[in-house]
Amino acid sequence: MQAARALTLEDLTSFCVRRGFFFPSGRIYGGLRGFYDYGPLGAELRKEVLDDWWYYFVRRRVDVVGIHGCIITHPKTWEASGHVEAFFDYLVTCTKCGKEYRADHLLEDLGIKVPALSAEAISSAIKEKGVRCPECGGELGEPVPFNLMFSTYVGPKRTKANEAYLRPETAQLIFLNFRDVYYTVGAKLPFGIAQVGTVFRNEISPRGFLFRLREFTQMEIEYFVNPKKLDECPFFDEVAQMKAKILTAEAQEAGSEQHSVLTLQEAWESGLVKTKWHAYWIGESLKWLGRIGINLERVRVREHVKSELAHYAVQTFDIEYYFPFMGWKEIIGISNRGDYDLRRHQEYSGKSMAVEDDGEAVIPHVIEPSFGLERVLLALIVDAYKVVGGRPILSLHPRVAPIKVAVFPIVDKPEFTKKAWSVYVAVKEHFTAIYEEKGTIGRRYYDADEIGVPFAVTVDGRTLEDDTVTVRFRDTKEQIRVPISELIPTLKRLMGREGVDRGSGAGAGI
Ligand code: GLY
Repeated sequence: MQAARALTLEDLTSFCVRRGFFFPSGRIYGGLRGFYDYGPLGAELRKEVLDDWWYYFVRRRVDVVGIHGCIITHPKTWEASGHVEAFFDYLVTCTKCGKEYRADHLLEDLGIKVPALSAEAISSAIKEKGVRCPECGGELGEPVPFNLMFSTYVGPKRTKANEAYLRPETAQLIFLNFRDVYYTVGAKLPFGIAQVGTVFRNEISPRGFLFRLREFTQMEIEYFVNPKKLDECPFFDEVAQMKAKILTAEAQEAGSEQHSVLTLQEAWESGLVKTKWHAYWIGESLKWLGRIGINLERVRVREHVKSELAHYAVQTFDIEYYFPFMGWKEIIGISNRGDYDLRRHQEYSGKSMAVEDDGEAVIPHVIEPSFGLERVLLALIVDAYKVVGGRPILSLHPRVAPIKVAVFPIVDKPEFTKKAWSVYVAVKEHFTAIYEEKGTIGRRYYDADEIGVPFAVTVDGRTLEDDTVTVRFRDTKEQIRVPISELIPTLKRLMGREGVDRGSGAGAGI
């Protein structure tokens, strides 16, 4: 039985802190809600996932290029994008103790559904159901919109004219640079621009450990398509027969949580997913989740109902993961943004956003796969966490495991430690690795299993005779014997990972 089902949020948080994946930011001062720092294992895991994402969605492809935009950009961007006006959640404040709540979360926690996220609907639900402050029982005030963007000042003058925003999504930097990229790389539609980077949202109530943060990382692609060719996707065959559990807006509006199992071909042909390119990007996103080791049985695709669509969205499908402690939650959002963003930037800047395609000036439509990195990491860790024989194992795919190899001398004696250290130094040239000589060998194996190290290399008595070592497999505990001269190529083969030496991708320094 897999322990992931029984895992609580508290277990997970304390595991991640204890083993150095993540630490509450500013912990010595009591922490700051919604902010987590990455520890040594988290930083490596992050880099592996970012690199693989960049490899899969950018470097491997012929039709996607990457950019790296600024966190602070011209503030008019956010007026044009609609974020100044429409990027808010409803806040309710207790009139007695002053505690502030995100209204939809408060109602959701009490099992109250509102037909639409409007001030009127929230206000009447609060009144009709007699909702009071969960903290002190006081009366709640009227819901007010609370904009989620963090603002700051550019330059020394703290005036309105100098106000700017920390970006709440990386997408806008892609839209701002769209034409420059298009012409500098000599692109042709359809093509995509990708970006990974930090974004900021001043969440009213951050929660769920890494799930709802105030500072987090997005991995986004804006994929630009001629509006007349939204159903001309030359790569569609690669995903057409993939089956997905899809929960439609129609089912949800009828009060059902029952998904349908459809191939992406069926999802597109039936008109459920409005464009072929949108169905394609749903398929590619699912494929990548499978590639990094996430069990797709615990994944579903949920269409947004009308009232939850973002201000820019024509249609959105979330890829959700089933977290044992909070149910189905979004880890990837895939939106059809139409031509909303490019048209708005054209209007607000007075600069054309059209490009030439088939001899015509067109403003492309956009399909946007948007991945929340920390949410993907949360799903990866939950998915990989198992208790086997009473001991935790993080069964991470070797492709993303933060430490690939552990090197141990069988016992802590100089003839073994000296040799093991030299093996460790050689292995570290190629893979992330750890070395440990203290404690029983069994204890050291278990410690390595717990942080997801897929392979453990041990220097033992036979090593001193014939220069071979054992390689132990985390998930099966099986061992093979390998000459030290063959160790690096053997490990590379065992990782089953193309491009092990492909070098750093986008992950560094973001
Ligand atoms: N770019 C989509 C989002 O930030 O939700």
